[in-house]
This record gives sequence, structure tokens and C-alpha cells, in this order.
Amino acid sequence: MIYPHAGAARPYLFNDRTVEGYRRAIAAGAERVAERIRRVDRPFSGVSPERLEPEIAAIDLERPLRDHAAALDELERVYLRDAVYFHHPRYLAHLNCPVVIPALLGEVVLSAVNSSLDTWDQSAGGTLIERRLIEWTAGRIGFGPAADGVFTSGGTQSNLHALLLAREEARTEAPPARLRVLTSEAGHFSVRKAANLLGLAPDAVVTVETDGERRMRPAALARELERCHRAGQVVMAVVATAGTTDFGSIDPLPEIAELCEAAGVWLHVDAAYGCGLLVSRRRRHLLDGIERADSVTVDFHKSFFQPVSSSAVVVRDRVAMRHAVHHADYLNPRRMADRGIPNQVDKSLQTTRRFDALKLWLTLRVMGPDAVGELFDEVVDRAAEAYDLIAADPRFEVVTRSPLSTLVFRYLPPDGLGRELADDANLYAREALAASGEALVAGTKVDGRHYLKFTLLNPETTLDDIAHVLDLLAGHARHYVDELAPLADLTGGTHVNA
Ligand SMILES: Cc1ncc(COP(=O)(O)O)c(C=O)c1O
Repeated sequence: MIYPHAGAARPYLFNDRTVEGYRRAIAAGAERVAERIRRVDRPFSGVSPERLEPEIAAIDLERPLRDHAAALDELERVYLRDAVYFHHPRYLAHLNCPVVIPALLGEVVLSAVNSSLDTWDQSAGGTLIERRLIEWTAGRIGFGPAADGVFTSGGTQSNLHALLLAREEARTEAPPARLRVLTSEAGHFSVRKAANLLGLAPDAVVTVETDGERRMRPAALARELERCHRAGQVVMAVVATAGTTDFGSIDPLPEIAELCEAAGVWLHVDAAYGCGLLVSRRRRHLLDGIERADSVTVDFHKSFFQPVSSSAVVVRDRVAMRHAVHHADYLNPRRMADRGIPNQVDKSLQTTRRFDALKLWLTLRVMGPDAVGELFDEVVDRAAEAYDLIAADPRFEVVTRSPLSTLVFRYLPPDGLGRELADDANLYAREALAASGEALVAGTKVDGRHYLKFTLLNPETTLDDIAHVLDLLAGHARHYVDELAPLADLTGGTHVNA
């Protein structure tokens, strides 16, 4: 083991005597990233875990390089060279957005000052900035002055937090086994995870049927509410989705709110993806009804062009936030709350917590909300054009026209060839494309069949990029149908890991 001699580690501490070293290190890091971004010509290198793993395993963590430049050289090899680049116009896979520069500036500042947003005495202004942003978001949602909320690590945590509040607000004597959460077939899996973490029964999440556009059917919701009531079950929340992960579909919020109000059930709107509409000048109306929710999830790291992590849970009535309050003598004793000291830990599931809100703050202060909304509107426009392109292409079928920016589609083998082959051809095409690194697309299942998915979040992606990726996918799929499937038939095997 190597021990630095006394004092040798001190120059690495960030303080008033080391700011020159800090400036040089951060500038060198920014320079590496800038150069890499300038040179990246595809979203991915196509590297496999098997090829990369030995390079990382070979690094001796007991032997430091003691030099930022050397560490950055090494990082080129173990990370930057093969990273997945979301800013690339042919990254079309998951809900990852390219990020805006003011938010990156925020990252530099927030990590160096390193405020922790659990208590006022660890953050001061950071706490007030976060509170102001929650107020701003609540205003965009249409909540009144009683609203509140807190930043979280992501949509999964926001949904968990909202469901925790809903469970407590249900104020029921019913045992956890009788509690139910209703969400659509297209709702996010984090709702199930949350139900599990909250100690609900394995069958606690009831899926509500969707229509052809993959939106929750209000009539089916009314039926399920009635059925649960008759079975002696207590519906503690309905989770509507404003922007489903696969289809971008937005559940009919006014009708759902009506049913929830009549039944006295907590309505949570998961707008992790659709929250970008809050700043859209052309499409804000698609979220009408969201102001009638009891709680809302917003993921700024999906549709506000923010770096991971940046999310929030917002509630209509701050009184509900009390369910997450715990006082610790060493951190946030009750007397502080009584004196009105703003300790965000009183609202959060986390204790030590990043000042992620700063990224959104700088984004709004530099660009303003309309500019963010314009970027989101552009990707929604592009998705509509891409829908027309795929719908007119006989090589593919496309499932629904998304009100947001996803496209679920699949390659269709030439006439006469079976549906099983279509599944394998699409799986193969996605894998082969990823291995080439030319583009990244997602995959999903619709009614038990394998489909491909584009998630467009980059205004730089052109219709030509999309047409090019469709050609690449069709080429790989056709290769599977013509060359590989006949071979697999001969050997009795398959080339695809389903
Ligand atoms: C609709 C929806 N809700 C919640 C989440 C979870 O968000 P996160 O990945 O930030 O935890 C996602 C992620 O894709 C999502 O699409």
C-alpha cells in the first residue's frame, strides 16, 4: 500500500490555498470533455461489457497517478472513449435528453460549494432557491399558494414519495393488504416498486385498461373503483400518467380528476416525461386537469434538458408533506420547525442531498422558461413528422401517434413470413445497430410482441437522421430474415437473446 508522506495529500483539498490547482483541474476536465464531444461521430462505440471489463479490472486502485492529466488520460480509455453520448442526434433510445450549458455551469458550482440541502445550516440560500423553484413549478402546474414539494433524485423517488403521502392521507384503518393503487397498463413500473416498498400486497397495483391511444379509459377506471369498493378494498391512490414511457400518451386528466374527487381518492399525476409541456407555449393545454391532482412528479432531467439528477414531487396542499417529517436532535430538532427555520429534510425522504435545483435555476435565469419549452416543442414537432415518415414506409408498422416524442414501431418481414420471425428480426436489428454504434434505439413489447422505439429528445435530430436510422434498422432486419434465420432453422437455434 502507498501512503502519501505527511502533507502530500493537502494540495488535493479544495480551499483558499488551492484555487489555482482547482482552476487548472476543472479547465483540463472541461477541455477533455469539449474535445471528446467535438469528435464524437456516433452515439456509442459499440463496446461490449466483456471487452471493457478487463481494462477497468486491470487498474490498480492502490496505486494513484497523483496527476490530474494522467488520470484524465486513463479516463479516456475506461470511460470517455466508450460512453453513451446522449447529445448525439442519433441517440434515440431512452428518456435521456441532451443538456443545456447553463445547467452544466450549475453542476460546476454546486459540486464545488457542495451545499447539502437537508438543513438551512448546511445550505442557506440553496434552500431558498430550491423553495422558490418548487413554488414556480407549482405555479406552472396551476396549484394555489398552499402547494409545496421537494427536489428528488428522479421520477422513481418522486412517485414513491407521492404514494407514501397518499397512503398516509388515506387515513384508513384498513390493513395494508387491502390497500390498492390504480394505474393504467402503460403506467411506469416505479409505481409497482413503490407499492412494494410501502409494504402493500403483491397484487396492490391494479392496472386499468387503456384505449387505442394507450390512455387510461375513464370508464374502466370508474369500473375498477367500484369493483374495489365492493370487494372491501381501499383505493389509496390513482396514478395517472402524463407522458407514458413507451407511447408518450397522456391520460385524460380532467375525467380522471372528476372520478377521484367523487370517490375521495388521492390523484397522483406522473408527469416525469410530460412535464416539459409546463413550459410549452403551444402545447400547455395537453396538461389541462393536472392542477386538480393531489401530487405531481416532474423530471427536469427528462424534458427540461437538465443533467441527471433533477426531479421533484409537488403537492397541492403542503399539509400532506408532514407525513415524511422526522426530527433528529442533532439535525432538525422540532424547536427549529417551531421557529420557522426552513429545513428541507423535514420534507424529503433523503437526508444529505445535492443542490440539483441550482441547475434549473441557472437554466431559467440564463435562458428562461420559453426557451426550454421551445426546445421541447421542437422534438414533439419532429416526432409528428417522423410518425408520418414511418407510417408511409411499407417496411414498418407504427403503433400510435404520440402527443409527445416517442415512436413505437417495428419492421415487417416481407409478405408470407411469420410473426415469430418479425419478433426475432426486430430484436436482432436493435442489437446489431447498437453493436455498430451508428445509432441507439430502444425496444419494448406491445401486446406480447417485440417492437422498436425512438424516444426523441434532441432538437438537433433531423428527419434525415431518422430516415437514415430506419434504413439501418431495415438493413439489419432484412439481413436477419434473409441470411441468419434460415441458418438458425438449420441448426435449430436462434441468433437473438429475447
Ligand atoms: C413515466 C415515468 N415515470 C417515472 C420514471 C422514473 O424516472 P427516473 O428514471 O428518473 O427514476 C420514468 C422513467 O423513464 C418514466 O418514464
